[in-house]
Order: sequence, then structure tokens, then C-alpha cells
Amino acid sequence: MQHQFPKNFWWGSASSATQTEGAAFEDGKGENIWDHWYKTQPNRFFGDVSATDASTFYQHYRSDIALMKEIGHNSFRTSISWSRLIPNGCGEVNPKAVEFYNNVIDEMLAQGIEPFINLFHFDMPMAMQEIGGWESRKVVEAYTEFAATCFELFGDRVKYWFTFNEPIVPVEGGYLYDFHYPNVVDFGRAVTVGYHTMLAHAKAVAKYRQYQQKNQQQEGQIGIILNLTPSYPRSQNPADLKAANIADLLFNRSFLDPSVTGEFPQGLVDLLTEHGQMPVCETGDREIIAAGKVDILGVNYYQPRRVKARLTAVDTNGPFMPEWFFENYEMPGRKMNPHRGWEIYEKGIYDIMTNLRENYGNIPCFISENGMGVEGEDKFLKDGQIQDTYRIEFIQDHLSWLHKAIQEGSDCRGYHLWTFIDNWSWNNAYKNRYGFYSLDLATQTRTKKLSGEWFAEVSKNNGF
Ligand code: BG6
Repeated sequence: MQHQFPKNFWWGSASSATQTEGAAFEDGKGENIWDHWYKTQPNRFFGDVSATDASTFYQHYRSDIALMKEIGHNSFRTSISWSRLIPNGCGEVNPKAVEFYNNVIDEMLAQGIEPFINLFHFDMPMAMQEIGGWESRKVVEAYTEFAATCFELFGDRVKYWFTFNEPIVPVEGGYLYDFHYPNVVDFGRAVTVGYHTMLAHAKAVAKYRQYQQKNQQQEGQIGIILNLTPSYPRSQNPADLKAANIADLLFNRSFLDPSVTGEFPQGLVDLLTEHGQMPVCETGDREIIAAGKVDILGVNYYQPRRVKARLTAVDTNGPFMPEWFFENYEMPGRKMNPHRGWEIYEKGIYDIMTNLRENYGNIPCFISENGMGVEGEDKFLKDGQIQDTYRIEFIQDHLSWLHKAIQEGSDCRGYHLWTFIDNWSWNNAYKNRYGFYSLDLATQTRTKKLSGEWFAEVSKNNGF
């Protein structure tokens, strides 16, 4: 065995409620922004496919959990749909949802699979969006109550909680780059959304600490899941270094620093102040954020961000955007995933681990998402099975770098692939397939890919 991983390493995969449950309008679930947006603009979704039916986890959770077990999962991350549990975002709890999530959690535990539960994966209840979404402090309060409700209902069995998945994505998608509802392009509003998300995170952490105290359940942990896409400068030229540093401040450190150290980076505050983009901060916010430090960090890593100093002058008549400070850089000869159009840079995972070890107190972490999306994956179907050797190679190469980081002292405790069964993915719907199991959309049949078989062995041997 070349790569032996630490004892009790978490092997599993990740997904989210909206992307897998389906039953979007059943059993009292409230509408979320995805249900709403699809109704108004179905053409914004690949193949006009909505999350309404997703991959039917709502009906098939029991057999799906058995499939997890079959390929060696000892842990699995999904989320609780806020609009399923509390259809209006605040107020009444939906008993059908409580029953469903209880069943899922109990079934996972019965199968020896540790539930990792996330509370927000891009799926704002529509009733909350209507009162301003993350731009509103009322929504911050409603989310905090939702989190507290989840701890009370499920905290006796769930030991790994996460407040948000990739909180920067709704900021980018919804308020800068037009790929999430509400399709706003406004830097100042984006900053407010990010700031309030961070407040909501910290308030949820505080609720969990209260819950732990009350129940003397010290063994539970709470964290956040961040997509820590490293920013690599084109060169060591000071202008390129500055460009990469600003991209890092805006897209990584904006959430990483407050989550781990309890404070926003000074460089970010200076940048926003200089450009008149600071959000409205209230008395007491700083203390709330300082108390929101996490126990554990989930790291999502797919591809690097390469940047260079801008080659052209900024058009000051256009909206103020992050790209005023840098341009994306296409490094010649970069290795690509031709089936998704993303760069593959395996060492990025090692660089993230090294950064966390050297600059963030070696916070306990795990790889909460990594994976390879493939469009038209049917072309690799042979004898009824997807022969995804490219995915095995992709995972192996990333795990090798992860292993090296662990040997050098990084406190990384697990690896979750995105994803378990090919699932629905926001604007891209079922375009890019990521799963250990393929999904036949017409029949909902799940079929193990070659990577699923391989992963079962890796998990069994705790390495490869
Ligand atoms: C991750 C998200 O960043 O990317 C997932 O957390 C998403 O929710 C995944 O499904 C894959 O995205 P895509 O666009 O390639 O289908």
C-alpha cells in the first residue's frame, strides 16, 4: 500500500437536499428560489430540467443509503432543506419534513454511516428572498432560528454540522455574475449579502454552543464548507502578485479568515473602504463574528484560479466588479478536464492544506468536495457500466497530494467525492455527471460506475 491514510479516515461523498430529494412540491415543502426561478425562466436551466424531481432521494433514501454502504462509505454529507423544514422560512415546522430527516439520519446511523449535515446549500426559501434574502437582517435571524431548530430536532444524533456550503457562490451567482436568482449585478449589495451570511454563520455557531452547553454533548462539532480555490499569479511580477492577492482576499479569505480566526482580513477591509464598498456594520457585529470560529473546516476543491494584472484600463462607466483588479489567466499548457472545461491541478489540494497548516493554526479539516464532471458520460458506457478510469485517476492523483500534506502534518480527516449518484446541479442540471453511480433519468435506475467499485476497495484498505 503506497498511500495509507490515518485511522478512522472519512471516506464518502457529498450532495445536497435540493439537488437530490426531488418532491419539491410534496408533503408541505415551501418554495425556494430554485423552484421559483424555474417557473419564471426555465430556459436558464440546462435542457430545461428543474429540481422538481431531482434524483428521488426523498422516496429512495433507504435503498440509496444501502448503495452508499456498498461502496464503502463511512460518512456522507447532505443538507437539510430550509424550505422543506420551515416552509415559510420562519414560523411553523413541517412535521413531514421532521419525519423524513429523522428517517434519513436514523437509517444512515443504522448502516454505520456518519451523517454530516449542512444547513444551507444555495437554497433560500422564496418567502425569505421576498423580504430581501441575505440583504436583510431579518433573514439572518430566521436562519439562526432554523439552525437552532435543527440542533434541537437532530442534534442528539448528528455530530458534524455545517452552517453553509460555499457561501461565496450565492454572492457571486446572485449578486455579481448572473447565474443564481435574484440575478442582481451590484458589488455593494454582494458585499452586504456576504457580510450577512457570515453573521448568520456566526449566530448559528453561537446557537450550537448554547445547545451543547444545555445538553452536555461536547463531542459534536460545527464547521463551514468553503471552496478554497487557490489564486495563482501568472508570474512573480509585483502587479501579478497584487492581482492574485486581491482575488484571494475577495473569494477565499472573505470567509476563511472570519470562520477560522474570527476576524475579516485587514487587506479586505482596506480594499472595500478605499472603494466605498463597506457594508453597514452594527455595534456588536464584531463580537458575534469573533465568537463564530469553527471546530472543523470542509474544503471543496475542483480547480485553481489563475490571475494576472489587467492588461486594459477599467471602464469606469460599467459596474464596479472584482475584475477591476485582475484578469483571469489561461496558463499555456495547463491540464484540462476536456469533458467539463475546468483545469485539473492536483497539487492545488496540497497547497490549500499547506496554507491551512501554516497560516490557520492547522485547523482540523477534510476534503468535503472534489470531483470530475463529465458531459455526455454515456460515451464511456461498456457492458452496462460507465468505465470512468479518468475519474479513478483524478481521485488518485488528488489523494496522493493530500496524503503528502498529511504526512507533512496537515490535520485532514477525510475525503468526500462530489458526488454519490449523478445529481441535478443548478443551472447545469444533469449536464455534468459526477457520481460513483450513474443515474438513468427516465427510470431512475442507479448503476455503479467503475469508480464506485474502486472506491469500495480504497475505503476497505484505508488507502491505495
Ligand atoms: C460545487 C457545488 O461547487 O459544484 C455543487 O457545491 C455543484 O452544488 C458542483 O453541483 C458541480 O457543479 P457543475 O456546475 O459542474 O454541475
